[in-house]
Amino acid sequence: MTPRTIAIDGPAGAGKSTIGALAAERLGYLYLDTGAMYRAIALAALRRGIDADDAERLAKLAREVKVAIGPPTVRDGRAYTVLLDGDDVTWTIRGADVDRSVSQVARVGAVRDAMVEQQRGLAERGRVVMVGRDIGTVVLPRAERKIYLTASASERAKRRDEELRARGDIRPRQELLSEILRRDRLDSERAVAPLRAADDAIVVQTDGLSVGQALEKVLAILTAV
Ligand code: C5P
Repeated sequence: MTPRTIAIDGPAGAGKSTIGALAAERLGYLYLDTGAMYRAIALAALRRGIDADDAERLAKLAREVKVAIGPPTVRDGRAYTVLLDGDDVTWTIRGADVDRSVSQVARVGAVRDAMVEQQRGLAERGRVVMVGRDIGTVVLPRAERKIYLTASASERAKRRDEELRARGDIRPRQELLSEILRRDRLDSERAVAPLRAADDAIVVQTDGLSVGQALEKVLAILTAV
């Protein structure tokens, strides 16, 4: 038996995107990385010079811009294509400037409301693996399977380093670690939909596990009767 909706949450760099995409592929499900949606709004704000603390303008922006996530349109290692008002921003949303501002943008309740509405719409059809911070707690509280994927901060910084390096984006490891710790703090201390494991989520610790091992662990949970 496989569930119709799968929620995978966890902190930055825990491997949610990699494992989520592979699990979705294995199960033949749609994969939706909700972090990409918040990143696209953060990028739109940067491009328009909207301050990450300006909740009112951010709320308006989130209602106005169109963020679309779909199958890869270019074969360059991407798992999906992200369009911001028709502009391909798949790689731009992974930049250091977006890393720095996205958690502030994602704190705004009205921004979240706009994103959550779209996310629920996409889940209605079922057979979806949705990855984020609040999927099991807020977006799909009735998801059939919930996983909370986590790892120590140093392990997560190491993975981020490897992932960025593979794309030629070289940043000091210490800077990556501080960025991860700062986002952990902002994401878990915010008032609206903070990062936490749902009471009925299964926590998977991935320190010391290879991608293949973590994937097998997750698939075993997802396909258990
Ligand atoms: O998953 P990723 O690191 O790309 O997410 C970027 C940021 O988007 C997170 O640090 C968090 O602030 C926000 N986010 C969120 N809720 C989600 C997914 C991401 O607040 N469901």
